[in-house]
Parts: sequence; structure tokens; C-alpha cells
Amino acid sequence: MAEIEDADKVICAMRSSVPVDLEEGKTYYWCTCGRSKKQPFCDGSHQGTAFKPMAYTATATEQRKLCQCKQTANPPFCDGRHKKLPEDAAGKAFPPNSVP
Ligand code: FES
Repeated sequence: MAEIEDADKVICAMRSSVPVDLEEGKTYYWCTCGRSKKQPFCDGSHQGTAFKPMAYTATATEQRKLCQCKQTANPPFCDGRHKKLPEDAAGKAFPPNSVP
């Protein structure tokens, strides 16, 4: 199996959140690694990295903004940390929890 580049780092999938319509009681698998092509959800691309998807069961049927930069301290929701990443952060690797 080929080595995954920066396997211990998360990729900033997008330097922005994405609004998602969540359904109460439904479980979603939020991509923590940033490598999924189905952001903000896992598509299995984390295999070979240090990361696994985070299961989240929606507590209400509502639209929420989910994190795509993978630096949020309140996953799977956006907490605005993407604004502290460099403007050209999309597609780049960063250590997890690297944004204070
Ligand atoms: Fe990123 Fe699964 S693809 S956690």
C-alpha cells in the first residue's frame, strides 16, 4: 500500500463552512481528515492516515454550518477557525488542532 503523504496531518478541504440540512435522529459521519471528496462527510479516504470519521447524531432537524477546514474545536460544526488559516489554505495539510 502506498504511503499517504502527511498521514498525521489534516487537509483543509475548504477554508469555509458548508450549510447542511440535518435530520433529527440521523447519524452522520463527519470527515475529520479533510481528504474526503464528499465533504463534509467521510468517503473512506482516511484509510492509511491517523484519522477516522466522527459519528454525529443530529439532535434536531435544522440547517447547520459544518466545518470543512478540520480545525474546529466544536466538531462537526464550524466555529470560525477557518478564518485564522492562510487565505490559500484549501488543499494544504496542517497539524490537527493547529489553530488556537
Ligand atoms: Fe476523512 Fe473519512 S475521509 S475521515
